[in-house]
Amino acid sequence: MSVTVRVPAKVNVQLAVGPPRPDGFHDLANVFLAVGLYDEVTATPAASPRLTCTGPDAAHVPLDDSNLAARAARLLAAHHGVQPAVALHIAKDIPVAGGMAGGSADAAAALLACDALWDTRTPREVLLALGAELGSDVPFALVGGAALGEGRGERLTGVKVGGTFYWVFAVADGGLSTPAVYRAFDRLRPDAPPPAPSPALLDALRSGDPHALAPTLVNDLQPAALSLRPTLADTLACGTASGALAALVSGSGPTCAFLAADAGAAHRVAAALTASGTCRTARVATSPALPEVRR
Ligand code: C5P
Repeated sequence: MSVTVRVPAKVNVQLAVGPPRPDGFHDLANVFLAVGLYDEVTATPAASPRLTCTGPDAAHVPLDDSNLAARAARLLAAHHGVQPAVALHIAKDIPVAGGMAGGSADAAAALLACDALWDTRTPREVLLALGAELGSDVPFALVGGAALGEGRGERLTGVKVGGTFYWVFAVADGGLSTPAVYRAFDRLRPDAPPPAPSPALLDALRSGDPHALAPTLVNDLQPAALSLRPTLADTLACGTASGALAALVSGSGPTCAFLAADAGAAHRVAAALTASGTCRTARVATSPALPEVRR
């Protein structure tokens, strides 16, 4: 028997970042939206822990004990006092180190898959707490949909979304280090105010209208990501010139996200980005999206 869990990537439609805290993290007002690019993690019983990965970016995924999915399996096993004897296979489609929480998606998928495989029936709030130990974005990856993340992003409140939004993601060559982007943010914004959720953005999500959502999108990490990767400005400009309603860096980057009016516009923006040479590849996806467990 094996269990496969499919978990979506995310885009931050609002990422408001405060000053650094004593523990080194930053308080956030982080509105997560899960988007339909997925990693799949399959958990199968094994004599000892094993980890494999396939997909276009597989060569960049660590397969040692540092892998977040492997750590998730060990953490859940330790919590229940069971052996972490499981073979995990990651079928990876989310860009690696791209600002779309692919590693967090794998951790969330591993928690859900192992919980089902071992029949440990972990309560939702315990899974969320274990997820928060693994990383700030893991709790959201467990629930998907749309949510406001406060604290370092792990304290979630559900957010209503009134319709399907069409996105284009321009995947860059190479990743960006999230801690490095936050350090650049600290240099650029020593005066950052405490973060607060945007009522206009939450209203726009509820309305389901991309024209209302477009002017409210904001990512405080964007100037920091651009300072480390100035060529992303060309990618953003290309998407806007080809009809995107809005363009922003996804999370800590370097993936750039473009909001489109509808499916046709999204495919036109993706084609223009691909032809421009300002990104490695462009992907169309819709939001919101949810995790799915298959036994
Ligand atoms: O929680 P996670 O391991 O995903 O965070 C990775 C890094 O991103 C942290 O080590 C920290 O440098 C930065 N970070 C932060 N504030 C947050 C979330 C992440 O400074 N709220």
